[in-house]
Amino acid sequence: MTIYNLGSINLDHLYQVDHLVRPGETLTSSDFQTVLGGKGANQSIALAKAGAQVCHIGAIGRSDDWVLDLMGTAGVDTSAIAQLEGASGHAIIQLDREAENAIILFPGANHRLTEDHIRSALNGAGKGDWLLLQHETNGLAEAMNIARQKGMKVAYNPAPMVVTEARPLIDKVDLLIVNEVEAMDLTATSTAEQAEAVLRADYPQLQILLTLGKAGVVYLGPEGRLHQPAFMVKAVDTTGAGDTFIGFSLAALMSDASPKQAMRQGAAASALCVTRLGASTSIPSLPEVERFLTQQE
Ligand code: RIB
Repeated sequence: MTIYNLGSINLDHLYQVDHLVRPGETLTSSDFQTVLGGKGANQSIALAKAGAQVCHIGAIGRSDDWVLDLMGTAGVDTSAIAQLEGASGHAIIQLDREAENAIILFPGANHRLTEDHIRSALNGAGKGDWLLLQHETNGLAEAMNIARQKGMKVAYNPAPMVVTEARPLIDKVDLLIVNEVEAMDLTATSTAEQAEAVLRADYPQLQILLTLGKAGVVYLGPEGRLHQPAFMVKAVDTTGAGDTFIGFSLAALMSDASPKQAMRQGAAASALCVTRLGASTSIPSLPEVERFLTQQE
């Protein structure tokens, strides 16, 4: 069983600052790194580290071979990543002393995928395989249609949320993964409780993972409602924590773990992720996650 992840690949330029820059202000950062990120790449790496077989569908600029090496070393099949003219996607990330961040994205190659590329990447896919998508590439509807025709399952993390684009896609989805802000935007509500109620009423057949930050994660689905509390750790950088949760919980679900076990594994992985700096660089290994879970018992 393979998970095909149609996802972004970004070069994350990470600036450590005292506070998030204010309008009109020029701020000097105390440190700077460029690391591999992008919701898609982070989720692929988390899936691979959690033991899933993952093929990443995406695009980068011609000069960024190092990205393929890094993703390949993490265990991701990179054969469906195209190298195109022009810049890779990138993100400018400010990280303040309270571990708050603010991100500006430039999509670059992530928005230049073609339907032909996606179709040929999914050539060998079939029943039992999964398609995972976020909202940082183009081609989502086309990819979902191809996946449906092939009898694949579809997992969708509509982040960053663009409500008008996300809503029409949800009918094609088996598993929706949203955080509380995305859920409120999607349902036009103003609290997580209201958002949960609307999601349950509007999509009774859908499996939903709703992440609530420090309040943990809620699963909604045919099995009912389940809750997994968050593990308390000292956060240094929350970038990529949601992606790490998705990779580890989805890998567990694909290997027939129960929703409760999957949420627990995802919550542990994202707790470890926030204790470290960077996006893909802070994703833990499966043995680290298992050790952490044993310590919590
Ligand atoms: O989810 C975290 C990611 O969002 C970062 O790696 C950044 O690239 C943005 O896409």
